[in-house]
Amino acid sequence: PTVLFYGHYDVMPVDPIDEWKTKPFEPTIKDGKIWGRGTTDDKGQLYMHVAAVDALMKTRKTLPVNVKFVLEGEEEIGSEALDGFLKKQKKLLKCDAVVVSDTSLYADNTPTVTYGLRGLAALEGEVQGPKGDLHSGSFGGAVANPANTLAQMIAKLHDKDGKVAIPGFYKKVKPLTKSERENIKKLRHSETKLARELGVRELHGENKFAALERIWARPTLDVNGIKGGFIEEGFKTIIPAKASAKISMRLVPDQDPIEIGKLAKKHIESIAPRSVRVNVEIGHSGPPALAPLDSKPMKAASKAIAEAFGKKKTVFNREGGSIPIIAAFADQLKAPVVMMGLGLNSENLHAPNEHFSLKNFERGIVSSILFMDEMAK
Ligand code: BES
Ligand code: MN
Ligand code: MN
Repeated sequence: PTVLFYGHYDVMPVDPIDEWKTKPFEPTIKDGKIWGRGTTDDKGQLYMHVAAVDALMKTRKTLPVNVKFVLEGEEEIGSEALDGFLKKQKKLLKCDAVVVSDTSLYADNTPTVTYGLRGLAALEGEVQGPKGDLHSGSFGGAVANPANTLAQMIAKLHDKDGKVAIPGFYKKVKPLTKSERENIKKLRHSETKLARELGVRELHGENKFAALERIWARPTLDVNGIKGGFIEEGFKTIIPAKASAKISMRLVPDQDPIEIGKLAKKHIESIAPRSVRVNVEIGHSGPPALAPLDSKPMKAASKAIAEAFGKKKTVFNREGGSIPIIAAFADQLKAPVVMMGLGLNSENLHAPNEHFSLKNFERGIVSSILFMDEMAK
C-alpha cells in the first residue's frame, strides 16, 4: 500500500511581535517544548513523518509501505494552487491513505484521530461615507459615520439567539448523528474549564447548542479585524471617510463556501443604508470535511496512536478549524483521509509564542511508524 503524507510549511504572520518571548524564526527548545512560528502549525507536525521515514531508513533500511509526501506553502491562504495540481496529477498522487498531522489532540495525553473539520468563507466589507475625513463638530449629526454604520451592520449579522442572520445560511447544515451525540456525551466536555482556560467569565454562542457541538458542527460568522478612523494615540475628532471589516465564516457539511460567500455578500449589501456605499469582496475559501470512521486507514491510525501513547482507546473528534485541501484529497484521490494531529489547542497557533510539545512530537514519530506498519498488514 501507498501512504501519502500531507503537511504545510507556510505560517501565519508573527505580529504582534513584541509579545514573543523568543525570536519567532529561531526555534528555541525550553521547558520540554520547541518555541517558534510554525512549530505546531505545521512545520513541526509535518516533520514527524519525515523523521519517521528517516528513522525507518536508518534502522530497517526499508519502509513497510510506499510513501509519498505533499508539502505545500499556501495552506493558510486556501491551497488554491494545490487544488489545481491535485486535479491534474491524480496518477502521480495515487495512494491508499492520506495522512495529515495538522490538527490537535482532544486533550493532552489523549490519543486522538480527527474525522471532521469546518470549512471557511472569507470576505472583506468596506463602508464608504463622505469623500474625505470630516470635522466631527462641523458635520457630525448631518452625515452618516461609516465606522458607526459598519458597527450597526455587523451587529445585525447575528440575531438574539446567537444565530447568523443571513437568509439561507443554515439551509444545508447537517445535524450531528446519534452516535456522534453519544460520543460527545462520553467526552464529558467541561464548559466551565474551557471558559477558565480562555480567561472569559462565560462562553458565548448559539443558544441551545453545547459548546463542543458549536465548535464541531455549527457554522459561525466572525469579524477578524476592523479598520477605520483615527487609531493612533490621543484623540482626533473626525468622521472618517471609510471603515472596513474582515469577516470569515466557518462552515459545516454540506454548506458550499462559494454559495455561502455569495449569500453573505448579497445580504450585507442589502442591509446598507442609503447614506453610505457598501462594497463586499469575497476572499478565499475551503470546503468542510467529514470522513467515515470505518475505513482501514482510520482503524490503523486509531490503533497506532493509542499504542504510541500507551493507552487503550483513541478519541475520535471533529475540529472547528479548516484545512482547505482535505476535501479535495478525498474527492479527487478517492483515498481515506486520516487526520492524526499531535498539537494542542493551547499551543498558541496563529498567535505569539507558538510552541509544540517535544513529548507529543516524539509520540507523533512513533505513531507514524506504527501506522505504516499497521497499513502494511
Ligand atoms: N492547522 C490549521 C487548521 C486547524 C486548526 C485544524 C485548529 C484543527 C484545529 C490550519 O493551518 C489553519 O489554520 N487553517 C486556516 C485555513 C484558512 C486560513 C484558509 C484556518 O482554519 O483558519
Ligand atoms: Mn495548519
Ligand atoms: Mn494555521
